[in-house]
Amino acid sequence: MDLIENPLTEVITIDGPAASGKSTVGLMLAKKLNYLFLDTGCMYRAVTLAILNRQVDPADEAAAVHIAKTSSIDIASAKGFDDGRLYTVFLEGQDVTWEIRSPEVDAHVSLVSSYKEVRAEMVRQQRLIAHDRAVVMVGRDIGTVVLPNAPLKLFITASAEERARRRLQDRQQQGISASYEEILADIKRRDIFDSEREHSPLKPANDAVIIDTSQENPNEVLDRILSLAAV
Ligand code: CDP
Repeated sequence: MDLIENPLTEVITIDGPAASGKSTVGLMLAKKLNYLFLDTGCMYRAVTLAILNRQVDPADEAAAVHIAKTSSIDIASAKGFDDGRLYTVFLEGQDVTWEIRSPEVDAHVSLVSSYKEVRAEMVRQQRLIAHDRAVVMVGRDIGTVVLPNAPLKLFITASAEERARRRLQDRQQQGISASYEEILADIKRRDIFDSEREHSPLKPANDAVIIDTSQENPNEVLDRILSLAAV
């Protein structure tokens, strides 16, 4: 079953480049409105981890598609954990919440996400999860491809330097050592790859509201979105 659109009006899409804070704000928004929260990036990350775990070359598109179609990915709340996670991700029943954030996954996820059939499978699953539910869905192509009829579409961005600073802070809080320069380079590389790919490139939907969060903290961004959602 391929559900083209969510019939509910309670659908908010959030797209934007790497580490723009869209997941943090999206989760706050979903909790406030009591909507389901779905961060689609974790699904592409889980497929990439499955490929790496099986020692398959991420450049092997056919193998990547097969793994995307046959892997079992589940997403649950962060309930029961106080390690800073926003939600819990399972791959084949194993908790991979932190593994999918590794530099190795960062390095390959954009290539895996560029494959047309990998995307088709993820989009199918995303529409199934969101069907008939009020949802805040976060990603790169949610307003343009996954839920194009959503009444409120947001594109959250910030300067690459500010995004790298935030991601470095996340990593330090998680006790992972990382350098600002490496993170900035990865963010810039993924932004270019994600924006220039053939299938579902990263871009704001024509009717998206663009929010630059370089100067705003998550609470300020949340207030701005809540006032948009109230109109
Ligand atoms: O959190 P961060 O912004 O670093 O990345 P993410 O949202 O977890 O997404 C990781 C990667 O998955 C992105 O760089 C994209 O290549 C891909 N992605 C995508 O293609 N489409 C989506 N809807 C979500 C993520």
